[in-house]
Amino acid sequence: MSMLKYILPALAVAGQAAAQSSCSAATKTIQNAGDASALAACQTFTGTIAIATGTTDNIALDGIRKIQGSLIADNVTQLTQMSGSSLETITDTFDLNGLTILSTLNFPRLTNVNTIRWEALPALQGLSFTTGVQTAASVTIQNTQLNSLTGINLQVVDTFFIANNPYLNQMALQLGNISTSLTLEANGRNLSAVFPNLQWAFNMTFRNCSTVSIPSLASVNGSMGFYSNELTSLIGPNLTSVGGSLSFVSNTMLTNISLPKLTTIGGGFQIANNTELKSIDGFPSLKTIGGALDFNGNFSNVSLPAISDIRGAFNMQSTGDITDACNNFKSLSGQNNVIKGKFTCAGSQVKPGGAGTTPTSSGSSSSSTSSKSAAGALDVSSSAVMGLTGVLAAIFGLL
Ligand SMILES: *[C@@H]1O[C@H](CO)[C@@H](O)[C@H](O)[C@H]1NC(C)=O
Ligand SMILES: *[C@@H]1O[C@H](CO)[C@@H](O)[C@H](O)[C@H]1NC(C)=O
Ligand SMILES: *[C@@H]1O[C@H](CO)[C@@H](O)[C@H](O)[C@H]1NC(C)=O
Ligand SMILES: *[C@@H]1O[C@H](CO)[C@@H](O)[C@H](O)[C@H]1NC(C)=O
Ligand SMILES: *[C@@H]1O[C@H](CO)[C@@H](O)[C@H](O)[C@H]1NC(C)=O
Ligand SMILES: *[C@@H]1O[C@H](CO)[C@@H](O)[C@H](O)[C@H]1NC(C)=O
Ligand SMILES: *[C@@H]1O[C@H](CO)[C@@H](O)[C@H](O)[C@H]1NC(C)=O
Ligand SMILES: *[C@@H]1O[C@H](CO)[C@@H](O)[C@H](O)[C@H]1NC(C)=O
Ligand SMILES: *[C@@H]1O[C@H](CO)[C@@H](O)[C@H](O)[C@H]1NC(C)=O
Ligand SMILES: *[C@@H]1O[C@H](CO)[C@@H](O)[C@H](O)[C@H]1NC(C)=O
Ligand SMILES: *[C@@H]1O[C@H](CO)[C@@H](O)[C@H](O)[C@H]1NC(C)=O
Repeated sequence: MSMLKYILPALAVAGQAAAQSSCSAATKTIQNAGDASALAACQTFTGTIAIATGTTDNIALDGIRKIQGSLIADNVTQLTQMSGSSLETITDTFDLNGLTILSTLNFPRLTNVNTIRWEALPALQGLSFTTGVQTAASVTIQNTQLNSLTGINLQVVDTFFIANNPYLNQMALQLGNISTSLTLEANGRNLSAVFPNLQWAFNMTFRNCSTVSIPSLASVNGSMGFYSNELTSLIGPNLTSVGGSLSFVSNTMLTNISLPKLTTIGGGFQIANNTELKSIDGFPSLKTIGGALDFNGNFSNVSLPAISDIRGAFNMQSTGDITDACNNFKSLSGQNNVIKGKFTCAGSQVKPGGAGTTPTSSGSSSSSTSSKSAAGALDVSSSAVMGLTGVLAAIFGLL
């Protein structure tokens, strides 16, 4: 089933000192080691190279330096080894999916790949990428046994999605920026994610991490969220702005959030169900929240000493006694005041609720609404909706 216009090898432009070979095919399907070695003279291969599902041989794509196209191995359940001793560039996708026993991936010179999409590689524990992939637009690695990302030494990436790799307990990436999104979820139980040089990122979502280190992160253009992590602290010494929303939800070991330079949150600001977080005082510079503020949990101290503008609704509920904080914030609420949306603040709650919930009156509570807001907020919103998007909450809070 290999394809029509397969030419091998074609000499490049006459007059060049070293003969450069290039080959092309819409899709070249490789069935065995012989098919792979037949491509050795192709320094550049234009088209897709696909490994046939029934392949059992080790596949060595030696000789090829550049694939102007994709390299694909899907459901090749008997493949154990794949390599390319000279391969430097894959201009499209490096797609590995459902390779049940693939244990060795050896591409020592691979540095540039447009898209890495590796999923369901239950026997893959490591990579032999000596140089390391330095640029990629999109990297997705899911359901592998990789215990390190050594070999993926990205300097630049747009989208980075790493999930369900249960042996992955550490990653350190040299990236300076992430232009679309970073998502880490359900990897090793003790994942330490370290980004020593990261200066800005669009969206970032962290789940099930035990350490997140972002010493130089200065701005998040979109949203940043921490959900169900085992972090004990989150320190962002250089972060000044988050363009979208900022969320800390169900991080049950978190005791310290410190973002000393954060001045602006463009969307909502949510701190919910972080059971051990007793004090919310790590935001000394925070001036503006473009959306809603929604804090609920077990805290007793809350201070936002620099706050001057909260455009959305305000919900603060805690099991702790937050009478002082409620009195303080109450004095800042009202249509032309700091807190412009619906105001709810209540301590000593048995079940402190999220935005849109009504505190029980037995607690120390103080609640008021700006003239037009109450009906709109209560009619339209549910805590789930508010929890998910602070921006929506903000809009509803102002209706
Ligand atoms: C691989 O297998 C999965 C599940 O059996 C199937 O959904 C998918 O279409 C297969 N892909 C290819 C390229 O055969
Ligand atoms: C992104 O980071 C890389 C280094 O990792 C840097 O060379 C590049 O200038 C940065 N781009 C922007 C737009 O900040
Ligand atoms: C960033 O996240 C927000 C909220 O989840 C989403 O609406 C937006 O499309 C994301 N943007 C990018 C570039 O991923
Ligand atoms: C990730 O966290 C969620 C929520 O706590 C939990 O249900 C899930 O088991 C965790 N996954 C891993 C792989 O730790
Ligand atoms: C978790 O990782 C840290 C280093 O990142 C290490 O010091 C610690 O011992 C690890 N804990 C467990 C339980 O493996
Ligand atoms: C923090 O920001 C300052 C000023 O923008 C910069 O000089 C410093 O190098 C940054 N620190 C880190 C660790 O990136
Ligand atoms: C994100 O913000 C940084 C710093 O303000 C900026 O340099 C970068 O261009 C922005 N990136 C995007 C994709 O908007
Ligand atoms: C939280 O972390 C910051 C930064 O490391 C530190 O200065 C502060 O003392 C910590 N706060 C608590 C309560 O541990
Ligand atoms: C916080 O926990 C309560 C009770 O378990 C739950 O109803 C609520 O949805 C949680 N809030 C968020 C934002 O996850
Ligand atoms: C408050 O702490 C208790 C005991 O640690 C825990 O069971 C409860 O879920 C916490 N409530 C919230 C809202 O974090
Ligand atoms: C709360 O603040 C008070 C007074 O500022 C202080 O005495 C107390 O230790 C703080 N409690 C916590 C849990 O940080």
